[in-house]
Amino acid sequence: MLVLGLETSCDDTGVGIVDAEKNIRANVVASQLAAHKPYGGVVPEIAARAHLDVIDDAIAEALKTAGADFSDLSAVAATTGPGLIGGVMVGSMMGKAISAVCRLPFISVNHLEAHALTARLTNNIDFPYLLLLASGGHCQLLLVRGVGNYRLLGTTIDDAIGECFDKCAKMLGLGYPGGPLIEEAATQGNRKTFALPRPMLGRQGCDFSFSGLKTSVRTALAGKELTPSLVADMAASLQAAIADSVADRARKAFAMLKVQDEAVTAFVAAGGVAANRTLCARLTSIAQENGVTFVSPPPRLCTDNGAMVAWAGLERFRLGLIDTLDIRARPRWPLEEVRGMQK
Ligand code: KG4
Ligand code: ZN
Repeated sequence: MLVLGLETSCDDTGVGIVDAEKNIRANVVASQLAAHKPYGGVVPEIAARAHLDVIDDAIAEALKTAGADFSDLSAVAATTGPGLIGGVMVGSMMGKAISAVCRLPFISVNHLEAHALTARLTNNIDFPYLLLLASGGHCQLLLVRGVGNYRLLGTTIDDAIGECFDKCAKMLGLGYPGGPLIEEAATQGNRKTFALPRPMLGRQGCDFSFSGLKTSVRTALAGKELTPSLVADMAASLQAAIADSVADRARKAFAMLKVQDEAVTAFVAAGGVAANRTLCARLTSIAQENGVTFVSPPPRLCTDNGAMVAWAGLERFRLGLIDTLDIRARPRWPLEEVRGMQK
């Protein structure tokens, strides 16, 4: 069984092909970084056009890498939301066109569900598991009970975690996307230099907040010259503050699940920010404290890619969760609203 997956919800054009034995047969990612760089963030209109420019070639390349033809495919999956609507439409229309022409089942994939299920492609994780979904647009703790069966435990009340990394990186003159650049700069810095707040520490529940932290970074930098050592120290201090805050929220999520008698098999981190090694090290010890393993997919599968969409499509296809071609692209689509089997 081979499934093709198309990802176009943000600034990466991703085309992946996976099989049921968890082999990633192809995972082509065409980044638009250069096109957005002058603007310091993703420009939706530029993103949509860039997806359109490269998606044909990316599909051809993925098929070639997999040594497959359209006729070898069992289904085609595409991200139909949430995300920048112009880009989402490019990928979903392409998926529907392939489905119609090649008479293949079409699977509509929620981008967040693709991140959420990636750990089942890379590791043998069983349901239910606790998930930290940490990306450029989201920061949530969820109980993943099954395909299409998600319970939200906590979410950010303001900025997303990746947004915090990206905006602070911009203040530090590091460029975009900020997360990997902050992680790199932090290796040369002292995390104790700046006493930044730990948002939500000790608060009830497991919601997140990052906008205050961003403001504290701005205040701490005011009037200072951005020398390499100052940038490194701030990057390390910020990364430590984020890791402390997320660790506290994850502990609270485990405590909540315990009270509610909900056992989990693992603690999974997914989404672009889950590529951060300092954060993952903290989350590993929290998983250990709670007697479960910690899993985070390799960085290239944490950030947006087509293989995760193909895998989510394959998981849905196996359960008979096939969609019709009149399904609409959705800019907003919370994970709890995804259709599943067990509801
Ligand atoms: O999942 P993703 O590729 O796209 C979205 O769906 O948002 O996540 C992108 C986000 C960006 O904010 C980027 O700065 C962040 O993930 N990111 C990281 C790292 N790598 C990517 N943040 C912290 N540390 C990293 N190593
Ligand atoms: Zn993403």
